[in-house]
Amino acid sequence: MEASASIYNKFGLSIYDILVLTISNIFAWRCQTGDVLLPFYKQHIGQSAHLEIGVGTGYYPAASVQTLAKTKVVTLLDLNPNTLVMAQQRLAYAGYKGEIELIEHNIFQPLPTNMGGKYESVALFYVFHCLPGSLPKKATDVFTVIAPVLSPGAVVYGATILGSGVSHNWLGTRLMGIYNKKGIFGNVADSEEGLREALRESFEQWEVRVVGVVGLFEARKPKGVPSVKL
Ligand SMILES: C[S@@+](CC[C@H](N)C(=O)[O-])C[C@H]1O[C@@H](n2cnc3c(N)ncnc32)[C@H](O)[C@@H]1O
Repeated sequence: MEASASIYNKFGLSIYDILVLTISNIFAWRCQTGDVLLPFYKQHIGQSAHLEIGVGTGYYPAASVQTLAKTKVVTLLDLNPNTLVMAQQRLAYAGYKGEIELIEHNIFQPLPTNMGGKYESVALFYVFHCLPGSLPKKATDVFTVIAPVLSPGAVVYGATILGSGVSHNWLGTRLMGIYNKKGIFGNVADSEEGLREALRESFEQWEVRVVGVVGLFEARKPKGVPSVKL
């Protein structure tokens, strides 16, 4: 398993929420979890089925359990089985009563055909900056994998830490250096324009905004996928 996923062992997961979602998001990436990322996450959750890619500790779905009350199925997908177990337990403990599916899978690989057309929302929070390679290619590769599982009108949304064309502060520069050297991040060349290019290439409708050094995106209507008439 690559460092971008293997770092999420029991110890990594035990410090993730405080280190990343609290300290780093406030002081390094300047995009706060409670004020920006969590409301954005909740805003787009679909009701039939939601696909969560790169689940980490499962903080976002567990913190959104009231919004998820109407969502029948939540599918958790990750390369690292530790994250899947933790996220599933956390979501169930938070009181989610729907079906939770787990998929141990590399997001660069095609998804199982039984997922075709199923998902009304697909979340990719803090995944692209972990993946090796650069924008736009790594994002277009992932969007190509996701397109077949989207239901008509589905939204793909997420957030990623940018490495190029943004102004990193002292702490951010240090963390970027360490994480990229260890292969935990692969985002030195990731720019807002690279993210826009990936979305432009892959979707008819999309939006990007940058908060601190984080690019937040939402996209609908994948290109090359015929729209289904209801
Ligand atoms: C930084 S964490 C993000 C966790 C959560 N979405 C959040 O925002 O707090 C990145 C997650 O992506 C997963 N991941 C990394 N590379 C992956 C790959 N190629 N395919 C699927 N998941 C991957 C990691 O195991 C980890 O759970």
